[in-house]
Amino acid sequence: MALERLKRDLVKMGSLGRHNGSMVESYEELSVDNGLWRLEGSELSKASKDYLVQKMKEAELKVRYDSIGNIFGRKEGADPFKKAVMSGSHLDSVKNGGQFDGPLGVIGALEAVRTIKEEGFEHSRPIEIAVFVGEEGSAFERGLVGSEVLSGNISLEQGLNLVNNEGELLKNALSGYRGNFNLDLADIEYFLELHPEQGPVLDTEGFSIGIVENITGLSWLRVVIEGEENHAGTTPMKMRKDALVRAADLVTFVHEKAQEMAEKTAGSFVATVGKIEAHPSATNIIPGRVELGIDIRDTRLDNIETFKEAVNERVEGFGRTPGIKTKCELLINKPPSLCSKEVIETVAKAARELDLAAIKMSSGAAHDAQNLAGKVKTAMIFVPSVNGISHSPWEWTDWDDVDKGVRVLTRAIKELAR
Ligand code: GLV
Ligand code: MN
Ligand code: MN
Repeated sequence: MALERLKRDLVKMGSLGRHNGSMVESYEELSVDNGLWRLEGSELSKASKDYLVQKMKEAELKVRYDSIGNIFGRKEGADPFKKAVMSGSHLDSVKNGGQFDGPLGVIGALEAVRTIKEEGFEHSRPIEIAVFVGEEGSAFERGLVGSEVLSGNISLEQGLNLVNNEGELLKNALSGYRGNFNLDLADIEYFLELHPEQGPVLDTEGFSIGIVENITGLSWLRVVIEGEENHAGTTPMKMRKDALVRAADLVTFVHEKAQEMAEKTAGSFVATVGKIEAHPSATNIIPGRVELGIDIRDTRLDNIETFKEAVNERVEGFGRTPGIKTKCELLINKPPSLCSKEVIETVAKAARELDLAAIKMSSGAAHDAQNLAGKVKTAMIFVPSVNGISHSPWEWTDWDDVDKGVRVLTRAIKELAR
């Protein structure tokens, strides 16, 4: 495996997301105002796909696009009748994110295939690299779009008609990255996704490799509270219908209720109000409309359901105040998913053979792998995130850990594709 080549591609890919186009090679070069902004459908998103496709073609892979905009690069195996081993992740980023969340799994898979090719390693199964469209949900209304459509959880129409903040439809934002190759998951035997952990376990406990056994369930709620926009100076306190005051109550409610739930269940339960938009957002106007985005996660589905009911009840409560209207919509609803024992053990064996310390764990982050898990034998390989930070401009994984992760991935792919 060529660490220098892998590093060059990851750093270059990162530069196609930073506003000043800088190449960031070390943690010390990170800064709060120079994170990655590569939202799905943006110019930089197109540039990242152009770069990747060029690299896949240089590696002589057969490149194809499906009708939601997922990108595939295939290396044939010796047996045309065998199902493929697929590996990949996403290229889009969150707002002000880091350069490894997503690209590590895509470029890592590419590096694995380049290595397998250079070694002349013979494999019977085809190897398919996948880039899933719109994983982060930072531009369009929801995330995991490409893998949701591929696995049949949402329809192609639903995916194509998602809208971003500028009112643009996903289907119009894909700038040529849509095709008519429609991959059938029945032709895939295994899926492996390499990803930074995005949490503190590996970094604090000193493991190089995490092997994911299950992936969190996830719900996203969109709550809209409507009151009455009015003059901040002339409207007496008792006559106000302030939507933001109700929203503030809801933020506190979600946080406190989530703390209570986490303590009570002693597990992985978390909930966050990560998005809040007050309209018209002017100092001298009483906010007439507020939209909130709530993220709820656990590896136990019943906890998610109980929590959603509590939020719904609270929101309905506001709606009983005269002049206040509310709406609570479910944007994403994903049950927890389990990885395949066979693939988990293949990864564990690869780590063992490379003499790397590995631990089995859960993923609290959402990943395209959770959509694949219900359809094909799936697992994930995690590498440490420095200080457990992610979805932040301070997200980083040390090159030594990148190297280890890609070596485990390469070995596991070889074993599965053999
Ligand atoms: C995606 O990265 C998520 O976990 O929200
Ligand atoms: Mn992410
Ligand atoms: Mn990711």
